[in-house]
Amino acid sequence: MQTRITELFGIRHPIIQGGMHYVGLAELAAAVSNAGGLGIITGLTQKTPELLACEIARCHGMTDQPIGVNLTFLPTFAAPPYPEYIRALIEGGIKIVETAGRNPQAHMTELKAAGIKVIHKCTSVRHALKAEAIGCDAVSVDGFECGGHPGEDDVPNFILLPRAAEELKIPFVASGGMADGRSLVAALALGAEGINMGTRFIATREAPVHEKVKQAIVAASELDTRLIMRSLRNTERVLMNEGVKRVLEIERDKGAALTIDDIHDQVAGIYPRVMTEGDLDAGAWSCGMVAGLIHDVPTCRELIDRIMAQAEQLITERLSRMARRA
Ligand SMILES: Cc1cc2nc3c(=O)[nH]c(=O)nc-3n(C[C@H](O)[C@H](O)[C@H](O)COP(=O)(O)O)c2cc1C
Repeated sequence: MQTRITELFGIRHPIIQGGMHYVGLAELAAAVSNAGGLGIITGLTQKTPELLACEIARCHGMTDQPIGVNLTFLPTFAAPPYPEYIRALIEGGIKIVETAGRNPQAHMTELKAAGIKVIHKCTSVRHALKAEAIGCDAVSVDGFECGGHPGEDDVPNFILLPRAAEELKIPFVASGGMADGRSLVAALALGAEGINMGTRFIATREAPVHEKVKQAIVAASELDTRLIMRSLRNTERVLMNEGVKRVLEIERDKGAALTIDDIHDQVAGIYPRVMTEGDLDAGAWSCGMVAGLIHDVPTCRELIDRIMAQAEQLITERLSRMARRA
């Protein structure tokens, strides 16, 4: 399949693995890229720019295909040293960067001077237009269904994607709720040039996370996620568990007076405990509603091949049969 996204990134299939804290390590990124998609290393999971340089080198050792690095611009006062992270990825030969959180305007000159293609992940048409205006090459449009931070507008992909198609000139991929060939064909129909998946890629053989995390996603239904931190305007979609129950109780008790300190124990430093140690109830960890569509733990190659085969079958058989009938 050829789309503006496969052409932009030089990949075989229009499928991207979004950056994921403590999941987007070299093993997963390489497996996705080797299967013809675009694998992405999560920059800030590496505690220092030096460690990011090592992780990039490790990933290059596992694949000769294009890989990307995610840079998440967090709403924090103690900002990580972004310029040094950017220097590390440029020196590591990275040519694709996925940005998220605040827009990457402050770093565009340097990224572009290094010949890097930038895909910005955002949750609204206005932020996508801003990304286009500051020179991003593509956007990842993240609907309300998504795991992680869906923003504060609550617009699901059936509205958000065609709205993005109406306004954008640069290509975009659909993100949030994407799981299979049906998702891909629907996303293409709504104007996207491919898909970005998070939660689906966690439940793969190569994802370097505890087996319990994969099984929890397989066991979860589309009813098992919750939104937290809404009143802080930092909404996150997470999988329900004991830690999340506690967050929701505290949020109910504190109401509008809630501060991040009130839920610090349930949201800070949780990822290594969940992803590495398999302590699923340690606190809040991101997960999409798409968990309801995830029923197995295939390899990345099996998953991507299956998505492409199902998409092709849908287009050439089901849809073209319907079109002929009309
Ligand atoms: C466990 C987990 C961790 C994530 N961490 C990040 C992150 O650090 N930076 C980021 O930009 N997006 C992060 N995301 C969002 C994903 O990149 C992607 O946009 C999202 O998962 C898409 O929705 P889906 O889960 O329905 O596929 C995370 C998602 C999950 C599930």
